[in-house]
Amino acid sequence: MKPTNAPKTYRVKSFGCQMNVYDGERMAELLAEKGITPAPEGEDADLVVLNTCHIREKAAEKVYSDIGRISKAGEEAGKKPLIAVAGCVAQAEGEEIMARAPAVSMVVGPQAYHHLPDMLDKAVRGERATDTDMPANAKFAELPQRRKSAPSAFLTIQEGCDKFCTYCVVPYTRGAEISRPFAELVEEAKKLVAAGAKEITLLGQNVSAWSGEDHVGHRVGLAGLVAELAKDPDLARIRYTTSHPADMDEDIIEAHGSIAKLMPYLHLPVQSGNDRVLKAMNRSHTAESYLKLLERFRAARPDLALSGDFIVGFPGETEAEFKDTLKIVEQVRYAAAFSFKYSPRPGTPAATMGDQIAPEVMDDRLQRLQAALRRDQMAFNEASVDKTCQVLVERRGKKPGQWLGKSPWLQSVWFEGDANIGDLVEAELLEAGQNSLAGRLV
Ligand code: SAH
Ligand code: SF4
Ligand code: F3S
Repeated sequence: MKPTNAPKTYRVKSFGCQMNVYDGERMAELLAEKGITPAPEGEDADLVVLNTCHIREKAAEKVYSDIGRISKAGEEAGKKPLIAVAGCVAQAEGEEIMARAPAVSMVVGPQAYHHLPDMLDKAVRGERATDTDMPANAKFAELPQRRKSAPSAFLTIQEGCDKFCTYCVVPYTRGAEISRPFAELVEEAKKLVAAGAKEITLLGQNVSAWSGEDHVGHRVGLAGLVAELAKDPDLARIRYTTSHPADMDEDIIEAHGSIAKLMPYLHLPVQSGNDRVLKAMNRSHTAESYLKLLERFRAARPDLALSGDFIVGFPGETEAEFKDTLKIVEQVRYAAAFSFKYSPRPGTPAATMGDQIAPEVMDDRLQRLQAALRRDQMAFNEASVDKTCQVLVERRGKKPGQWLGKSPWLQSVWFEGDANIGDLVEAELLEAGQNSLAGRLV
């Protein structure tokens, strides 16, 4: 590769989960420290960071078409943009990306992206570099201070996963479970609040496994961290995601009842409603233990909105077993949900299990499941009509004078009137749609 000019503008494109969004923000901060500025909307950037996701095949393959598109657009404009591949595809495929995509000059994994500035210096000199090292917790100490924040901010508290669900790549791409230290998190939360955050969502592949030592050396779990953050008078809302049914303890259940700033929303993936499938997935909970757990949460916080993740067509799943998933949906009545067709991932145990399900069967099951989930989401939104609640204003709407924010139950709420981004306003919910509600300021 020939040396190139140092990039003046960047674009970070994040795919996949919210942890990638958080990482994408941190990479943008690193680039900003080097004096590189975000490329204006609609213009090509000198440096593109593709912050990728490996969770399903479609997501992973997308990176190659994106690389093709970016280099072609560059060629047409007579430029050669620098391309970095970050995130979970970088971790999983490493050098393979270098071999398959000559236009890429940097490949950096989710635990190594604090090295991006050095890699960039090399790339400018025409050297290609791959860094997929996994030193636990090393990157956070080296990242810049938080100086800018949207009203709703993400804060990664925990990374990696030790659960090894048989379909999932995360334990391989993100490594073993590690918790960021309590004091470091309290500090970062303060910085985010000083920079404008009103709401913080604590992130991790398995946040319920977070543990640390508080200021006086006591062992605390997620609930203890939430309680500490709730003491900040300028922080109005706290959320967390994603948690695993096996790690939810009494403290976090109680916290939903006693900490008003902890929002009444719980994303608790179940994946399947059938015990044989759950066992084959290595989920360590049954349909019944999951339902019992939800009962305890709902007893602590009766207006709790629930959301979940589902996989249809796991190897060997029969029609009757799939119907158990429909049944659990019927029983829980989720306010929101994410559902996917099983996608075999290289290196995971389920990829080599017999009896892989035909694509048309998966399509049919996904459609039936999503119809049920859409019905429940609509019913949940309809049941919110006539309620008055606080809405955190996150951005302007399409029409002048229109604003978009979030209800405590994570519903999008539109309204018109006098407001500013970051305001917490009282709104009456007037009309329900599938994905949002119309409201009125009170
Ligand atoms: N840590 C979280 C989320 C992991 S990834 C959890 O344990 O719930 C987000 C979702 O992607 C999973 O909950 C699962 O529903 C889905 N998923 C993961 N691997 C998949 C695969 N191989 N095929 C289809 N969906 C998958
Ligand atoms: Fe993947 Fe299971 Fe870990 Fe979630 S708990 S990240 S689905 S291995
Ligand atoms: Fe995807 Fe990695 Fe997140 S595989 S879902 S970006 S942890």
